[in-house]
Amino acid sequence: ARLAILLSGRGSNMLAVVRATQTGPLRDLAEVAVVFSNKPDAPGLEAAGALGCPTAALPSQGRKRAEFDAEAAALLQQYRPDFVVLAGYMRILSPAFIQPFAGRIINIHPADTHQHQGLHAYEWAFDNHLPATKITVHLVDEGLDTGRILAQQTVDLRGADTLDEVERRGLAVEHELYAETLAELIKNYELKIKNELTG
Ligand code: GRF
Repeated sequence: ARLAILLSGRGSNMLAVVRATQTGPLRDLAEVAVVFSNKPDAPGLEAAGALGCPTAALPSQGRKRAEFDAEAAALLQQYRPDFVVLAGYMRILSPAFIQPFAGRIINIHPADTHQHQGLHAYEWAFDNHLPATKITVHLVDEGLDTGRILAQQTVDLRGADTLDEVERRGLAVEHELYAETLAELIKNYELKIKNELTG
């Protein structure tokens, strides 16, 4: 399957997914069609280029949401992705973006999406002294972190006494869970296509 990976920042989840296509659970299952950013100077975009991934950027700053999203979707469609993988893509997607990829956009959220939506999920877990939090991989719909949950994994936060430590533990789980969940999703997707072709 062809993946379009979208990011706005550092791109550690992007790196984990790219590595998984090379030597991990996504090997023989997925290839990176493009790494795209709405921030042309995102460190993750440069990192993707250095790994040899095709990259593309379209600055969103100062643009109207619906217009930008329609343009971004059209740009991405040129790369014919089977899945759009959000990896720290800091935008809420409008219908103009979701519609062409409906049911094929995936996000990772560093909390249980039933308990916490939006930004600062690790700060929320840390400030509330939670003994554990849950990483969530989910389908993306028009709400903020409201789409169907595909997988969750608990992160033990006992004894994590700095925000850095909370993030370190959480990200380690994110990187593994994202690649594994995408692998399962793609296997099912390919089975479905095969069944459709053979009737
Ligand atoms: C991750 O914590 C992810 O769960 C959230 O945004 C952060 C992105 O980090 N959606 P990175 O750019 O993948 O390192």
